[in-house]
Amino acid sequence: MKTAITELFGIQHPIIQGGMHYVGFAEMAAAVSNAGGLGIITGLTQRTPELLAKEIARCRDMTDKPIGVNLTFLPSFTAPPYPEYIAVIREGGVKAVETAGRSPEQYMPALKAAGIKVIHKCTSVRHSLKAEKIGCDAVSVDGFECGGHPGEDDIPNMILLPRAADELKIPFVASGGMADARSLVAALSMGAAGMNMGTRFIATKEAPVHPNVKQALLDADELDTRLVMRALRNTERVLKNKGVDELLEIEREKGARLKIEDIHEQVAGVYPKVMIDGEMDAGAWSCGMVVGLINDIPTVKELIDRIMAEAEAIIRQRLTGFLDGKFETTPARAVA
Ligand SMILES: Cc1cc2nc3c(=O)[nH]c(=O)nc-3n(C[C@H](O)[C@H](O)[C@H](O)COP(=O)(O)O)c2cc1C
Repeated sequence: MKTAITELFGIQHPIIQGGMHYVGFAEMAAAVSNAGGLGIITGLTQRTPELLAKEIARCRDMTDKPIGVNLTFLPSFTAPPYPEYIAVIREGGVKAVETAGRSPEQYMPALKAAGIKVIHKCTSVRHSLKAEKIGCDAVSVDGFECGGHPGEDDIPNMILLPRAADELKIPFVASGGMADARSLVAALSMGAAGMNMGTRFIATKEAPVHPNVKQALLDADELDTRLVMRALRNTERVLKNKGVDELLEIEREKGARLKIEDIHEQVAGVYPKVMIDGEMDAGAWSCGMVVGLINDIPTVKELIDRIMAEAEAIIRQRLTGFLDGKFETTPARAVA
């Protein structure tokens, strides 16, 4: 399958692995890139630019395919040295950067001068248009379903993707709620040139996280995510657990008076506890509603190969069948 996204990033399949804190290590990115997608190392999980340089080098040892780095611009307790991170991305020969959070405008000259393709993750049409205007090569349109930060507009992908298609000139991928071939074909139908997955990639053999995390994804369903930090206008979709219940209780108590300090224990330093130590009740960690569609832990290659083979079957048999009068009477079920 060729789309504007496969051509832009020089990849085989139009599937991107979104940056994920404490998941997007070299092993994850290399597995996705080796399977023909675009694997992305999460820049800020590496605490210093020097550590990111080492992680990029480690990933290069595992794959000779294109890889990307995620740079997230979110409110944080201390601002990271972004120009230094960009320098090591450039020096590491990485040609794709996924930006997210605030607009990457001030960093665009440095990224473009290094010949880097920039895909900005946006949760609204207006932010997508801004990304186009400042010279991003593509956008990742992230619907309300997504794991992580869905923004404050609450528009699901069924509406957001066709709205983006109506307004954008640059290509975009669908992000949020993407799990399988049905997601990919639906996204392509709504104007996207591929899809970005986060949560689904955590439930793979290669994802470098504690087995408890993968088991939690198998056990959860689409009702098990919660939105936190709404009052701070820094909304995050996370998997429900004891720490998140406490957080929500504090949020209810404080209402509009909530401050980030009030929930420090439930949101700060949680990722290493969850992803490395497997402490599933530690607090807020991102997870999408798509968790309801996750029923197995394949290798990344099995997952991507399955998506591409089933997508072809959906397009050639099910969809073409409708036109040819040879329609199927059963819904398109997932294989796993
Ligand atoms: C555990 C986890 C951590 C994430 N961390 C980041 C991050 O650091 N930066 C970022 O831009 N997006 C982050 N995301 C969002 C993903 O890149 C992706 O946009 C999102 O997961 C898509 O929605 P989905 O989970 O429904 O596939 C994270 C998502 C998850 C599940």
